[in-house]
Amino acid sequence: MESIWQATSGLPQFPSLVGDLQKDVVVVGGGITGILTAARLRQAGLDAAVLERETIASGVTKGTTAKITSQHGLIYDKLIRRLGREGALQYAHANQRAIDAYWELAAENGIRCGLEETDAYVYSTASGAKTQREAAAAQSLGLPASIVTKTALPFSVTNAVRFARQAQFHPLQFLSALSKDMEIYEHTMVTAIGRGEVLTPGGTVRAKAVVLATHFPIVNVPGFFFLRMHQERSYVLALENAAPIGGMYIGEEKNSLSFRDAEGCLLLGGAGTRTGKNQEGGNFERLRQSAEIFYPGCKVKYRWAAQDCMPHDQIPLIGPISEKWPNVYVATGFQKWGMTTAMAAAEILTDLICGQENRDAPVFSPQRFHPFISAPKLLLDGAQTVYSIAKEKLEIPRKTLFEIPNGTAAVVKVEGEKYGVYKTPDGGAYFVTVRCPHLGCRLEWNPAELSWDCPCHGSRFDYTGKLLNDPAQTEIGFQMEKKQ
Ligand code: FES
Repeated sequence: MESIWQATSGLPQFPSLVGDLQKDVVVVGGGITGILTAARLRQAGLDAAVLERETIASGVTKGTTAKITSQHGLIYDKLIRRLGREGALQYAHANQRAIDAYWELAAENGIRCGLEETDAYVYSTASGAKTQREAAAAQSLGLPASIVTKTALPFSVTNAVRFARQAQFHPLQFLSALSKDMEIYEHTMVTAIGRGEVLTPGGTVRAKAVVLATHFPIVNVPGFFFLRMHQERSYVLALENAAPIGGMYIGEEKNSLSFRDAEGCLLLGGAGTRTGKNQEGGNFERLRQSAEIFYPGCKVKYRWAAQDCMPHDQIPLIGPISEKWPNVYVATGFQKWGMTTAMAAAEILTDLICGQENRDAPVFSPQRFHPFISAPKLLLDGAQTVYSIAKEKLEIPRKTLFEIPNGTAAVVKVEGEKYGVYKTPDGGAYFVTVRCPHLGCRLEWNPAELSWDCPCHGSRFDYTGKLLNDPAQTEIGFQMEKKQ
């Protein structure tokens, strides 16, 4: 499933790493966060290289809706109540500053990527009280917020919080131009990370600092990120023959529809689920039905899905991974706001690595812990993990191989071993192990995307067993293709 960005932009190619390197900084991960961080480090006079397992922007970056905004749903009222004014100010300033930083970087590098100013809205179809509170909270932090009652949405709303002068762009055009003369190694899998070195099959990179920009960090300890966040998927349609909307919209409720224009299409997003909890499928179809209601006669030109890391306390984790590993930095947990937070992370990490103070860094510190906010979600995620590991060990498959209809998947037992099997429409069968190689949870079939997804921490694999999303780092073992 190709996103509108992939369909409308090429990307430069880079060699694999062969031999050892000595750098100031090595960045692991060639998505928007890794490339922005390396670009900022280079501006600061440091020698940085980027290592990417596949090709640049081939992970979650290609699936973004590419909104650049400090408006992250309804968050500021909550942040002020939870963290106090100073923490909320740091969050607001880092993200509002990120918008300016995109304009600066695009101008400095002569990048043409459809970067344009537009307003962002969170709409309410309920009482409108939460949006009112959010507008007041955001205004009190100096953000350009106001309440409106008229929008360009194809349905009526009670009101909406508008953030003026936010931005949208074409992320792959931006990355294509920014990355072309950077030192990047593609098809370079990192196999181990230490305090001052990164190992790959082609060579070792030694550096004064290491940045992990792999969406979900690929080290379990230190950091324990698998205990601090889960992953979610959301779905996007690019619609032709739908009236332009002229802004970026999202609803106040979880799983509300989102809207923005791009490349002559209207992007309609929603129908999200926790990764690994999509056994029913039908996400694209539900979105298409909404599209048909609001834009009769529209046509789906592209469709794709995005994956987001959701920290328990709803604040990204950006900074040194641990007191014990002060020269290893991480940027993760961007929720649904990856483009903006990636730039915020690039600025914070560059300052920290250069030994400069960054006034916004404390609120994002990975070493924080907010027990009252995090504990309920920690317990829920822990229960999910225990259930899923038990299911992997104890569940007895009910179907035999021959009972699986073509075009569907199930878990079966073959010669005493459990396998996930996907049967193609023409009767070919692909076998994978359903034990997640990350920490052993049971993978679940996702019929919307023909993938095996982990409900614990969000690793994903296609039906042939190829790794699609971290934190797992290996394919899912036994694979076999055969015709019946
Ligand atoms: Fe952690 Fe699967 S992603 S067990």
